[in-house]
Amino acid sequence: MFGAVEKLLKETIGLDTGTVGASVVRHALRERMVACRIGELEAYWELLACSPSELQELINAVVVPETWFFRDREAFAAMTRHSTARKRPGHPIMLLSLPCSTGEEPYSMAMAMFDAGFGAQDFKIDAVDVSTANLAAAERAVYGRNSFRGGFLEFRERYFHAAEGGLRPDLSIVNQVQFRLGNLFDLVALPSPAPYDIIFCRNLLIYFNRPLQDRALVCLKSLLAPGGLLLVGPAESGLPFLHGFVSARLPMAFAFINEGPSQIATPIAPPKARPPVAGLVQASPGAKARPTTRPVIGKVERGPIPLPERTATSLAAVERTANAGRVAEAKELALSHLTEFGPSPEIFYLLGLAHDAADARSEAIQSYRKALYLEPRHQEALAHLALLLRKQGDIAGAEALTGRLGRIEKRSGT
Ligand SMILES: C[S@@+](CC[C@H](N)C(=O)[O-])C[C@H]1O[C@@H](n2cnc3c(N)ncnc32)[C@H](O)[C@@H]1O
Repeated sequence: MFGAVEKLLKETIGLDTGTVGASVVRHALRERMVACRIGELEAYWELLACSPSELQELINAVVVPETWFFRDREAFAAMTRHSTARKRPGHPIMLLSLPCSTGEEPYSMAMAMFDAGFGAQDFKIDAVDVSTANLAAAERAVYGRNSFRGGFLEFRERYFHAAEGGLRPDLSIVNQVQFRLGNLFDLVALPSPAPYDIIFCRNLLIYFNRPLQDRALVCLKSLLAPGGLLLVGPAESGLPFLHGFVSARLPMAFAFINEGPSQIATPIAPPKARPPVAGLVQASPGAKARPTTRPVIGKVERGPIPLPERTATSLAAVERTANAGRVAEAKELALSHLTEFGPSPEIFYLLGLAHDAADARSEAIQSYRKALYLEPRHQEALAHLALLLRKQGDIAGAEALTGRLGRIEKRSGT
């Protein structure tokens, strides 16, 4: 039955359990079953099958809302630069934030556009997300400490005022953004007609498997004007190349220009033009009846995803990027993970792998040593460090580590 829920989530919003980890789905399921006072998964599945609003609640519970103002600052500089180049009198620059989560991204876009000298009439921002809870928070627009990260926070003094429970962006910012419930895989009515000049689709593709990433890129491309700019997340920057995008060559912006046809054939149709629905894909043959109507924006409150899960998602992104051979990007990701989540044996081990793959031997050794300092029994770090020491001619050091590894393996029976 758990498999059926996983499949439903994948078919509906693209969430790939293999990528995010089953614990994220289990956590959301538990939360919803408690809220519905249902003890058996079977009974909850029956409810899901006939209740669009419960499916929406499960989606709200399972998505990762993680976001903050001016996340990856260079992306906003790329946006204003591109907007300046595309500016034409009487044609507002059309911007889309998809997914917008709780609003920090589209509001940052508005602040950056004003800072670059654009007036309120010169641009429009549409903001779309599949979570009704996140959209409700975006429209409420009251932000706490977690939404303001990093060292460059001077925008806070210029664009925010105190409100009950936190800080609220000024009306000039809030008025620039139109929010809409929508699913990237079933976009039916955006606030404005496509194409857009610039699309932010950041930190969403990482939750999909490869076929779904391709399908998402096809959708995004169909929404973006030729020559338009697509911004993705740091761990997603290998994907646009496969779909006729070229790098905008702006370091750390993860920005791509829509230049040519996609190289990946996909049988999936681009977004359809029909009335707005949050979007549920059709049931696969043999599947149980599915909710088909639009879930309504509800007053759902959800706590933040627990730190261990956020950490795991971030670590998985570093690992995937390193495994894909994108060494420089993996290193960047590992370093931002360190800044955000602090030191851990896992992140030092992954950083070691990235340095190792880039032939930066002494940095790799240092990173593996740090992993072992925090977790002396980290078997992979021991093995890799032993190999490196041997390569360096430090045979005694290598053998000491191999001996330690052997004893650990013997004790744990591995
Ligand atoms: C990690 S946040 C990213 C927010 C922002 N773009 C950023 O980078 O800070 C991911 C968001 O994707 C939304 N989401 C997940 N699946 C989606 C889908 N199929 N269509 C639209 N939004 C989706 C979630 O609700 C969540 O708010």
